[in-house]
Amino acid sequence: MFYLKYRPKTVEELDNTKVKEIIKKLLQLQSLPHAFLFFGQKGTGKTSTARIIAKAVNCLSNDYASSERSESRSSRSRQTRQPRSTWQARTVKNIEPCNTCRNCLSVDSSSSPDVIELDAASNRGIEDIRNLIKEASFFPMVNRYRVYIVDEAHMITNDAFNALLKTLEEPPSSVIFILATTNQEKIPKTILSRCSIINFGKAQKADIVSMLKKVAKKEKIIIEEQLLSLIAQHADHSFRDAVKILEELATQQKLSYEEGKQFLGLLKENFFEALQKKDLKVILSWIDEFSQSGGNVKYLIEQLLDELRIALLAQSGVKTDEGIDITLNVKDIVSLMKLLTEAYNNLKISPIESLPLEIALVEFYNQHKSKVKN
Ligand SMILES: Nc1ncnc2c1ncn2[C@@H]1O[C@H](COP(=O)(O)OP(=O)(O)OP(=O)(O)O)[C@@H](O)[C@H]1O
Ligand SMILES: [Mg+2]
Ligand SMILES: [Zn+2]
Repeated sequence: MFYLKYRPKTVEELDNTKVKEIIKKLLQLQSLPHAFLFFGQKGTGKTSTARIIAKAVNCLSNDYASSERSESRSSRSRQTRQPRSTWQARTVKNIEPCNTCRNCLSVDSSSSPDVIELDAASNRGIEDIRNLIKEASFFPMVNRYRVYIVDEAHMITNDAFNALLKTLEEPPSSVIFILATTNQEKIPKTILSRCSIINFGKAQKADIVSMLKKVAKKEKIIIEEQLLSLIAQHADHSFRDAVKILEELATQQKLSYEEGKQFLGLLKENFFEALQKKDLKVILSWIDEFSQSGGNVKYLIEQLLDELRIALLAQSGVKTDEGIDITLNVKDIVSLMKLLTEAYNNLKISPIESLPLEIALVEFYNQHKSKVKN
C-alpha cells in the first residue's frame, strides 16, 4: 500500500511545508516542549510526525546522540526533574532520525519499550490514563526519552483528562507527550493550555501535488501532470486520500487526464462543465445519465454545495481558490446554493430521487440563465 510505504520518515520528507519548518526548528533548538497537541484533518501527517520526533530524539546516530554523549550520565540523572530549558540551549544541525539504528527501527516496528502509541478511542478511561502516568514516572528503558503518542486524543474522558493535567504540566524531563486529534474543539481548555499546539490544518493542493510527484517517480509511474492536480482536488485535503487515489489509478492503468477523470467519475467537474454550457437540455441529460447509471444524488448535491462554498469564499476574498473553476458570479452562486439546499431537503420526500435536483436546475436556469458566463 502506497500510503504505508510512503509514510514520511524524516522531517525533510514531510510535504506539509508549514509543519515541516516548525518541527525542524524545535528539533534544532533542542527545545522540545514536553507536551504537544497535534490537530488537523485526517491524513495530514500527525501520526507520522509524532513518530519522526520520537525517532529523532532517541536516534543513536544523529546530533541528539552526540549531545547526550557530551553530558555525563550523573548530570543527566540529577537534572531529571528540572525544566528542560535550563540545560538545552545548544542548537544542533543533524536532527533527522537515521531510520537504521536499533532505536529508530524499533519505533517503526512498534516494538520500542519507550515509544508508546495508544489509541484513545479504546484506552480512554481513568484507569488507562492512571497506568500511563505511573509508567511515565520511570526512566526510559533503552532510549533517552519515553514518548507517548496518543491518537484520537479527543476521546479521552473528562476524568481521565483531569488525572492527566498535573503530569502534563510537570512531566518527568525524559518524557514527551504527543496528543493527536482531528477534533481540537473537544479537548478541554485546561489541557490545551499545557500543550504546545501545532496545527496541521488541511493538506494544501500544491503540497499534495508535490507529494504525488515524488511517489510517482519512485514507483516509475508515468502520469499526466494535469491528472495529479485533479487527484489533489479530489483528495479531501488529505495526503493519505491522495496517495490512495494515485495507487488506484496506477493499478487500473488510468494515467491520462481523460481516463483518470472518467475513472474517478469526477462528478462536480463534469456537472459544472455541463452547467456552464448554458443549455438546460445539456444539464438535464447529464443528471438523467448520472441517475440512470446509479449515481447518488444526495452525495452529488453535497459535493456541489461544498464546491460552491469554496468558490463563494474565494470570490469574497476570504480564501484563495483551491477549488475547481466555476464561472458564476457571487449572486448566481448564492442562488444556486439556495436551490440546491432546498433540493437536498426535499430528497427525503421525493418519489423520484433525481427530481428535486432537476427542479432546482430548471428554476436556476429560469432565473439566471442570462447571467451564466462562459
Ligand atoms: N505531511 C505529509 N507528507 C507526505 N505524506 C503524508 C503527509 N501526511 C500524511 N501523509 C500520507 O498520509 C498517510 C497517513 O498519514 P498519518 O497517519 O501521519 O496522518 P494522520 O494525520 O495521523 O491521519 P489521521 O488523523 O487519520 O490519524 C501517510 O502514511 C502518508 O502516506
Ligand atoms: Mg493518525
Ligand atoms: Zn536512528
